Amino acid sequence: MAFDMGSHTHGVLKMGFWKILFIGFLLVSSVLGGDQVGKRKESKPCSFTAIYNFGDSASDTGATTATFGPFPPPYGETFFHKPAGRASDGRLVIDFIAELLGLPYLDAYLNSLATNYRHGANFAVGGATIRRQNSSIVSRFGISPFSLDIEITQFDNFKSRTYDLYKQANTLERRGLPVPNQFSEALYRIDIGNNDLYVGSQTLSLQQLREELPDMVNQLASAVEHLYQQGGRAFWIQSAGPLGCSPVNQILNPNIPPGFLDKNGCVKGINDVVTEYNRQLKDRLIKLRAELLEAAITYVDLYSPVYTLVTNAKNEGFPNASIICCGYFENNARVPCGAKAIINGSEVYGASCANPSLHLSWDGVHSTEAANKWVANHVLNGSASDPPIPITQACHRYN
Ligand SMILES: *[C@@H]1O[C@H](CO)[C@@H](O)[C@H](O)[C@H]1NC(C)=O
Ligand SMILES: *[C@@H]1O[C@H](CO)[C@@H](O)[C@H](O)[C@H]1NC(C)=O
Ligand SMILES: *[C@@H]1O[C@H](CO)[C@@H](O)[C@H](O)[C@H]1NC(C)=O
Ligand SMILES: *[C@@H]1O[C@H](CO)[C@@H](O)[C@H](O)[C@H]1NC(C)=O
Repeated sequence: MAFDMGSHTHGVLKMGFWKILFIGFLLVSSVLGGDQVGKRKESKPCSFTAIYNFGDSASDTGATTATFGPFPPPYGETFFHKPAGRASDGRLVIDFIAELLGLPYLDAYLNSLATNYRHGANFAVGGATIRRQNSSIVSRFGISPFSLDIEITQFDNFKSRTYDLYKQANTLERRGLPVPNQFSEALYRIDIGNNDLYVGSQTLSLQQLREELPDMVNQLASAVEHLYQQGGRAFWIQSAGPLGCSPVNQILNPNIPPGFLDKNGCVKGINDVVTEYNRQLKDRLIKLRAELLEAAITYVDLYSPVYTLVTNAKNEGFPNASIICCGYFENNARVPCGAKAIINGSEVYGASCANPSLHLSWDGVHSTEAANKWVANHVLNGSASDPPIPITQACHRYN
């Protein structure tokens, strides 16, 4: 996200460093069972030929880097062994999805070099929101001007250009392009909304934020409808995460009143709003299934699994959920991951921890590969979805 990039280029953490904390990590979920809308009709794996992904930094595989320049080392150190356009030490959930579906990692649509879109494209951009934000919000919170509607416009452009180019291209050139008639055989994934909720929680009262939820849900639903009209059929749509569990909340509210935090140290008021957003999103998606007769729409609840992860981290293999792996955060000084700053006359480097796989937070804003892998393992098998089907079967319609 733009904000983030500014932080590490300047070397010292700005006030807003924490602002986008949740993006990588605060995804959400509902509990399996009970209210699933339909019965399983088929169980054979889908043959997805491509993935089209929309979202924020949790699934940005290169857009921020293509726009603002690379993340510094040690970003990417765990898996790619160099900065790889991802705000993490390694793979994101979208990368684990690509692996599971047997497809290559997605190139960002905004990346102009050495890209291959044969098996899809990634429109996610760090700092993106569902709804367009005004300019003061954009600059204060480092929000991307590429909101979901613009990501969708970019997809439209991508698709129509594909049709044109494919006709003219020779065999070799075609290898880098999607096959035009395969847009309906792709998986369409949307993972966005955490930034809207975060910004709202910082600029509105919780009641005002609640009043904004229907519009957020409507705009997300419009994106799904639009992609359907463009030929999309299989949708994997992630909910928002437990934003109230982000350490940023405690930092911003040092004088915590009684009842403000739940027994797990999460801000209850914020999590209640997120839960309400997810409920409305899920309801809307269930209604959409009745409107879009050929669509297979899966609602993926990240709230429950991520809440479990952050509140039960120790038992899940992460000894201390509060530790930020990369960056220098001592004595009230904050040097972002990979940055350098002069503190008390000596140079301090925002280095990474010895073993990132033991930590949830990579840079205080985004999660480690280990946390992403945990989330992928707990959601891609369908245990947090409605209907409860694994992503490999997300092309099958249930009703
Ligand atoms: C931008 O939106 C915020 C939150 O809704 C509001 O408080 C602020 O007044 C708006 N600023 C402008 C310039 O419209
Ligand atoms: C976890 O890490 C935080 C931040 O470094 C520290 O303040 C806290 O004491 C640690 N908790 C435990 C149980 O080690
Ligand atoms: C800088 O020096 C002051 C005074 O000795 C000390 O209180 C503070 O903790 C130091 N800051 C850092 C980041 O080491
Ligand atoms: C999905 O995987 C998680 C983690 O391994 C496991 O706890 C859960 O039971 C699995 N659910 C299903 C439906 O396979």
